[in-house]
Amino acid sequence: MTESAQRPVCRVLDGEAVWPPPAWIMRQAGRYLPEYRATRAAAGSFLTLCYDPALATEVTLQPIRRFGFDASILFSDILVVPDALGCEFRLDPGEGPRLRPVTSGRDLDRMPATLPLDRLAPVFEAVRRIRAALPDETALLGFCGAPWTVASYMVAGQGTPDQGPAHAADRQDPAFMAALIDRLVEASIVYLGAQLEAGADAVQIFESHAGSLGPEAFRRLSLDPIGRIVAGLRARVPGARVIVFPRGRGDSLADVAALQVSAVGIDQDTDLATAVATLPAGTASQGNIDPLVLIEGGAALDRAVDAMLAAVRGRPHIANLGHGITPPTPPENVARMLARIRAAG
Ligand code: CP3
Repeated sequence: MTESAQRPVCRVLDGEAVWPPPAWIMRQAGRYLPEYRATRAAAGSFLTLCYDPALATEVTLQPIRRFGFDASILFSDILVVPDALGCEFRLDPGEGPRLRPVTSGRDLDRMPATLPLDRLAPVFEAVRRIRAALPDETALLGFCGAPWTVASYMVAGQGTPDQGPAHAADRQDPAFMAALIDRLVEASIVYLGAQLEAGADAVQIFESHAGSLGPEAFRRLSLDPIGRIVAGLRARVPGARVIVFPRGRGDSLADVAALQVSAVGIDQDTDLATAVATLPAGTASQGNIDPLVLIEGGAALDRAVDAMLAAVRGRPHIANLGHGITPPTPPENVARMLARIRAAG
């Protein structure tokens, strides 16, 4: 049995410049894979996949079997946390996620004060099964959404282009927004802690909607709550490895690194060489190939892989995209990308 710390992704997260860099991709289990589409169709709904440990294990392993990524990410969604808090997450075909909106202190009072972990038991069971089925050298990542990103869905009851409803709630009732964020900080510590205890090697916090926050709000609603999650998680699970992905915030990566995270995720709109120069030597980077270039494939993809490698040579890095892979991506382009990374001399 390989010790967790020997898995290449874990070595990078512990600060080692492993070469070639290990690789996985965000949303690697998803609709670009025919086997995912078949399993989802048979399951009937996305939430069935999330809450059935056997099905969640199956779809998590599909991209590992096909490509042999260095990390596997638990198949679930950031919105299972609000679902467990009573917000009734739904994803109907052709529509984005829907939730029962939470817009006032009164709505918060109706929510359980602490995250009901029993409702998420199938997720932790999936983590145990995935770990048991993975190749020894493959790391297993758990995840959650950062409080601001999750709150933006909870307040609007759905996805929004600019998080307008959450910004309005913060302006009109800042005490409510602060209380909602605090609730999500506590829930995230408990949720990520349980994933690590079930066998995840590391966790990633997705701050997908960091880009719409001004400097003051970014500090208050994103950086500070994420910092409290990292500290709270380490108090519970000493040495916990944490990746934070502040999408749209290429200007603030050093501030994210200062939260003592293991790695900072970098989106495709950020210049990788410039970004990594702002990170402390022991803080790993992750990213940042453009998902659109992965759709294109061919020489453009080869150039993007080479540029990523050149930018991070000599430092701890995990090869990844700058955001999730999208449904039109040909799976053979993923294989091409991985082969080129692994051939790096
Ligand atoms: O990376 C992985 O393979 C693990 C699984 C994973 C999913 N969602 C599966 C999923 C992860 C890590 C997420 C995170 C997530 N979910 C984020 C943060 C990352 C990001 O993309 O910014 C966000 C904002 C969500 C919320 C969410 N869930 C949205 C906006 C959607 C709809 C997406 C769409 O294009 O329809 C989902 C559903 C979802 N989550 C799908 C998958 C594979 C599509 C489900 C399907 O239709 O089969």
